[in-house]
Amino acid sequence: AFEKMPVNITVNGKAHKLSIEPRVTLLDLLREQLHLTGTKKGCDYGQCGACTVHVDGQRVNSCLTLAMTVDGKKVTTIEGLAKGDELHPMQEAFIKHDGFQCGYCTPGQIMSAVACIREGHADSETEIREYMSGNICRCGAYPNIVNAIQEVKNGGQQV
Ligand code: FES
Ligand code: FES
Repeated sequence: AFEKMPVNITVNGKAHKLSIEPRVTLLDLLREQLHLTGTKKGCDYGQCGACTVHVDGQRVNSCLTLAMTVDGKKVTTIEGLAKGDELHPMQEAFIKHDGFQCGYCTPGQIMSAVACIREGHADSETEIREYMSGNICRCGAYPNIVNAIQEVKNGGQQV
């Protein structure tokens, strides 16, 4: 067994003091220790985007991120996007535009979609597709996902 290390992480506004093995990924920490299972494990090696979360506002693949490297940082997961009962505008837009079928890729798609607008990569369909290319959807919901992102972008809502 590996020696455990202390790590302090704020997740969705809540501070956690944890003790973890150095090899634990942020994805496993979220799902197994904090029971935040909205973030999905698709491939576990950086190829699908199902595990996308934000760390200090930047999107990351949580399966490729060692939890230790997030010490002192703020993580936002899909569970932290809605404000109380009010869905985030991107969640609303995914529902409106049928941006999902089975839903497995959806939390990661939505976290990337928010980052796509925040980081200024949503000016055209091509740009959106390029930025979103790391988020794989086996159900082929891509056109609807692009429509959802464009609606939020064009609506000028705060994301
Ligand atoms: Fe992280 Fe696939 S689970 S990219
Ligand atoms: Fe099924 Fe994307 S909605 S994988």
